[in-house]
Amino acid sequence: MEQYRNLVTAVQEFIHQTHHHYIQGKWVPSHSGLTMEDIDPSTREVLTEVARGGKDDISLAVEAAQQAFRDKTWRQMSPQGRGVLMWKLADLMAAHLEELAQIESLDMGMPLRQAQYGTIPMAIDHLRYMAGWATKIEGETIPVSTGSFFNYTLRQPVGVVGAIIPWNFPLLMAIWKLGAALAVGCTVVLKPAEQSPLSALRLAELVTEAGFPPGVINIVTGYGPEAGAALASHPGVNKIAFTGSTEVGRSIMRSAANNMARVSLELGGKSPNIICADADLKRAVSGSMLGIFMNQGEVCSAGSRIYVAREIYDQTLEQMTAYAKNMRVGMALDIKTQMGPVVSSEQYERVLGYIAKGQEEGAKVVAGGQAMPGAGSGFFIEPTIFSQVTDTMSIAQEEIFGPVAAVMPFDTIDEVVERANLSAYGLAAGVWTENVRTAHYLAQNLDAGTVWVNAYHVYDAAAPWGGFKQSGFGREMGHHALELYTEIKDVWINLQ
Ligand code: NAI
Ligand code: MG
Repeated sequence: MEQYRNLVTAVQEFIHQTHHHYIQGKWVPSHSGLTMEDIDPSTREVLTEVARGGKDDISLAVEAAQQAFRDKTWRQMSPQGRGVLMWKLADLMAAHLEELAQIESLDMGMPLRQAQYGTIPMAIDHLRYMAGWATKIEGETIPVSTGSFFNYTLRQPVGVVGAIIPWNFPLLMAIWKLGAALAVGCTVVLKPAEQSPLSALRLAELVTEAGFPPGVINIVTGYGPEAGAALASHPGVNKIAFTGSTEVGRSIMRSAANNMARVSLELGGKSPNIICADADLKRAVSGSMLGIFMNQGEVCSAGSRIYVAREIYDQTLEQMTAYAKNMRVGMALDIKTQMGPVVSSEQYERVLGYIAKGQEEGAKVVAGGQAMPGAGSGFFIEPTIFSQVTDTMSIAQEEIFGPVAAVMPFDTIDEVVERANLSAYGLAAGVWTENVRTAHYLAQNLDAGTVWVNAYHVYDAAAPWGGFKQSGFGREMGHHALELYTEIKDVWINLQ
């Protein structure tokens, strides 16, 4: 196909090979023999078939991870040894960056440029950051007053981690989970999203090449209710790390309760982005458009509720509308593309459904609002902006996870805080102001795990990431992430 012309040979070959599960360092077909189709959302063509895992495959992978966790090779590997292996994997990812970017772009519609310069480099940075932590997982000495004891703590790996990840940033999400888990000495069973399993499978090849002991990292592909649910409820899994929808997050918590598995959840969002009257408007407009349209709006922290001070509302809306209309929507692999297709037919219908619902509820489309058959046969939707939105409309309350923004005026800072917090979610928030007092006041008062001031969508491996309220709990990135993968053991040594 025309759009596949520029694929590097390694990617062409990789896509067409047979994709089994990666268990105990080997490629293992599904116990059932079943496979599932993996499509390219830019064309709706079937790219390849991937193993459709279920309970048996998950059990095999969990057993491999348990065995690797007990195994001396991994247990007794020095922290430095683990760090070196992780760094080696990161180097291999860097050496294959273009390949990984193309795979990601093909598999889930991420604009190639974003994959090349944004998300794949971020994944590599993250792994290197976490590799550094392998040698820094320290305990404490505790000055107990009882008797005559030397009391200290050890921080030990929690055990087998079940990682269930979404399709919006497939490789990055895999590395967020793997980075912390490997740094502290856990072993992992990873279940990539059924829409985008390929970058994790290519990663597995690099895991072998880096020399990880077999069973430390296992990957089972499959559907959520089959492979995902089996992993979340497996008694051999000590901790579940999940990123995805709030609804599935709830079901994961319920199944984890049976085994008392530790859980960390990074869920949905409906993030407010507030533009104050004194903002640098040019920056605020382009930053806010990135905030909603990056990755087709398929970002948990997308700034989908844009609140603009009433005195600058009209001009801001006009500039945003112009911006949205000028965006280049097209094939994900095209280097000029700013926005690719949404990931799947389900997501396509869902987003178009929200656009229709917004209009039914009385909001007005001022930019976009249509599917884009002209851009190709894929799941393309125009960058869409709504005005005349009220806080209680579905498009202002529910996570759309697509390129759809609601732009609403506000009058006072206290009012906007109240309205911004009128959400079940609390993942991120944006603030645009030149006033230092307003900036800190909003940062303190918004219900959000991250607040960006005069910026949107900035991330760093060292900065903690996670949500308030129904956006989940636990933090990924930063040293805070490591706490979720370790147990504290307290040791008493009688000195008498
Ligand atoms: P999802 O939550 O169903 O899928 C995420 C992952 O969970 C996938 O690997 C999936 O296979 C797995 N999964 C699904 N059902 C499961 C179950 N019962 N037990 C265990 N694992 C299960 O998300 P989906 O359906 O792909 O997207 C629906 C909506 O979820 C989106 O429109 C968006 O609003 C939200 N979402 C949020 C994400 C985030 O980053 N916070 C990422 C993806 C989706
Ligand atoms: Mg795909």
